[in-house]
Amino acid sequence: VKDPQALKQTEVFGHRGWSAKYPENTMASFIAALEIGVDGLEFDVHLSKDGEIIVIHDANLSRTTNGQGYVEDHTVEQLRKLDAGSWFDKNFGGQVIPTLDEVLELASLQPRKVKLNIELKLGRAPYAGLGDKVWQKVCSCGLMNETIISSFNHFALRDLKQIHKDANIAILYQEGLVDPWRYAMFLKAEGLHPHYQTFDESVVRGSHAMGTSIRPYTVNDVSKMNELLTWGVDAIITDHPDVLLAVRARR
Ligand code: G3P
Ligand code: MG
Repeated sequence: VKDPQALKQTEVFGHRGWSAKYPENTMASFIAALEIGVDGLEFDVHLSKDGEIIVIHDANLSRTTNGQGYVEDHTVEQLRKLDAGSWFDKNFGGQVIPTLDEVLELASLQPRKVKLNIELKLGRAPYAGLGDKVWQKVCSCGLMNETIISSFNHFALRDLKQIHKDANIAILYQEGLVDPWRYAMFLKAEGLHPHYQTFDESVVRGSHAMGTSIRPYTVNDVSKMNELLTWGVDAIITDHPDVLLAVRARR
């Protein structure tokens, strides 16, 4: 067999949970995605002012909560008082911003193994040691084998790997890279997480030949899902895990 990785079933990762139907990065979104049987959850983390790991996409609170200003300027207590669901639908008004602890606990309580793709959001704030803190929590819950830490900030991935050699890191990127598996090997990354429009089947073959996994984001189009399933990518990150589960089941 030339590419054994391509013969494995492509995994379905819910992007920010099941974000097409539930407010992104909330427990409601994660629980709903798990209930329909996703293989993995992708979610984003920041640090609060007092150093708690917080699950939210934007550095600024205004799009997905009723708060204002930046995550980094609020304590966890302040952040937990915010409504993280009403912006999406008033029926989700009870949703709050989760902590990483809560999501790890949810994953630990599942009767089956669930993969976690924790994305470090370092853009505005440098969040020194975020990766180290995240990995320590992952270890304390015994979820090392199921967890992949990704980031567009590759310095943060490199730093994490220097502290924790066993941490699974994956490189997020959004422009075409030539032979990206070479870079993955250089950083000792187990995976590549490219924007779905930036690579072709030859990158899947090249990555797999080096044992590097490939999990494109964010794929919401059925014909693209089918193409990526044919290429044998390791996982697909989607806002519509229900659609991808159905597409995969039909094949
Ligand atoms: O991790 C894949 C994807 O989530 C990266 O982009 O902006 O949706 O976090 P973003
Ligand atoms: Mg993300």
